[in-house]
Amino acid sequence: MNNKVEFFDTTLRDGEQSPGINLNAKEKVEIAKALERLGISTIEAGFPVASPGDFEGVKAVASEVSCRVAALARAVPKDIEVAANALKSAKAPVIHTFIASSPIHMEHKLHLKPDAIFKKAVEAVAMAKSTGARVEFSAEDATRSDWKFLRELSEAVIEAGADVVNIPDTVGYTMPWEYEKLLEYLLKNVKGFQREKDPVLLSVHCHNDLGLAVSNSLTAVKVGARQVESTINGIGERAGNAALEEVIMALIVRNDQYNVETDIVTKRLYQTSRLVSNLTGYPVPRNKAVIGENAFAHESGIHQDGVLKERTTYEIMTPESVGYLKSKIVLGKHSGRHAFSQRVQELGYTLDEKELEQAFIKFIELADRKKSVDDKDLEAILSTEATRTIATFELVNMQVLSGEDAMALVKLKKQAGSIEPEIVTEAAAGDGAVDSVYKALERAVGLEVSLLEYQIGATTAGTDSFGEVMVRINYNGQTYLGRGVHNDVVRASAEAYLQALNRVFSEQMHDRSEAGGSDFS
Ligand code: KIV
Ligand code: ZN
Repeated sequence: MNNKVEFFDTTLRDGEQSPGINLNAKEKVEIAKALERLGISTIEAGFPVASPGDFEGVKAVASEVSCRVAALARAVPKDIEVAANALKSAKAPVIHTFIASSPIHMEHKLHLKPDAIFKKAVEAVAMAKSTGARVEFSAEDATRSDWKFLRELSEAVIEAGADVVNIPDTVGYTMPWEYEKLLEYLLKNVKGFQREKDPVLLSVHCHNDLGLAVSNSLTAVKVGARQVESTINGIGERAGNAALEEVIMALIVRNDQYNVETDIVTKRLYQTSRLVSNLTGYPVPRNKAVIGENAFAHESGIHQDGVLKERTTYEIMTPESVGYLKSKIVLGKHSGRHAFSQRVQELGYTLDEKELEQAFIKFIELADRKKSVDDKDLEAILSTEATRTIATFELVNMQVLSGEDAMALVKLKKQAGSIEPEIVTEAAAGDGAVDSVYKALERAVGLEVSLLEYQIGATTAGTDSFGEVMVRINYNGQTYLGRGVHNDVVRASAEAYLQALNRVFSEQMHDRSEAGGSDFS
């Protein structure tokens, strides 16, 4: 049996379906580049028919990376057509088409009989194949489907041209031993998986509703699945998807059990995880396996003593193997642009010249007040730069009178298209400094939004640290994320809010200029 396991990363599609995550094209590209460097074979970049923003995200990723790029499509012609369009500039396009195969989904969601499902699946795969793309077919809710139906469906889509057949545990329901039996049955009975020439790839896609996504994915590899679908940090619908970092490290640390090879550059796991966490606003729990802050921390005396005597007493993998390194370069105010830009790259960011310059200015501001700037400070600055949208509004100045009856005055520069920039000034009273600033900003930009989440923290320990603010706002049922970093926490709060408001503008402008839109429901 072939012992190469490929990784299909769906951070930018299933991961982005996590509540409150809304990545724009620029952020998707930033993450996609990191995924490519990590050794991912296929990056699923989005669901193009779902929204113009999703279409744009897939299109941008497709033109920026060289590995395979997948776009999701329901088994309907419009979805496939839009997916193929979004993938036009991809070097290796993949259309990932799906339809549900379980009685519960067929009857209650799709209101279709098995025969109709069969027909739609086959037609969708044939149409996707005719575009010249590689085709993956997923039988949604496969683990609650009838085995014989699943076998016949798999054979039919392979006949129609599917290169990959995915058997998802869509609702995280299956037990590892059940999944093992189902996959064994399919591997044995579906001819395409056995054929000598170009065997069809059996893929698995597990959700974590019962905390079994990683176990189920590993069981699948043991049985013979050769593609694992996963996300960085395990983000995804509901309780999430199988966490890539956990699956890969289990395959490597216990390769005695699996005897497989992969292309994953594990030394890049930690940085990629930090990047995804910073750009999505989803924190990584301290005790998260493999990439959590505590994963290599030894607290008890007995453990510390053991590790000092022999590392392997309490460590089954090294921090270095997953890229968990304390920075050897300490940056300070005398560090030049070169050292700065090198560290930026090491942290996994690919800023353009202008963004790099802005980040450098912020870095110098901080380094002026702090003896040394560590990676956490830099990440805060960099993720703010990397998420900066084409700003309609820029904060020029603000003045705040704190207290219970606070007052704020904000001065913004409005840049709309090629028209001369305009200065907008607004004032508002509020319940405290941040509230008054937020009211003044809303007035100045002319939008009413609701604040869903506000988080404030310090980038590092010490009173000279930067204040870091993350906000999520809701506008028209959509969530927008904003970040701000500044030594003045009220200013950091204002920058975060304004970034989120700018995102609303950039999406709206984009939607208006997009012909057609989508009929996604
Ligand atoms: O969970 C699922 O079934 C999916 C499919 C679209 C593959 O995400
Ligand atoms: Zn899924």
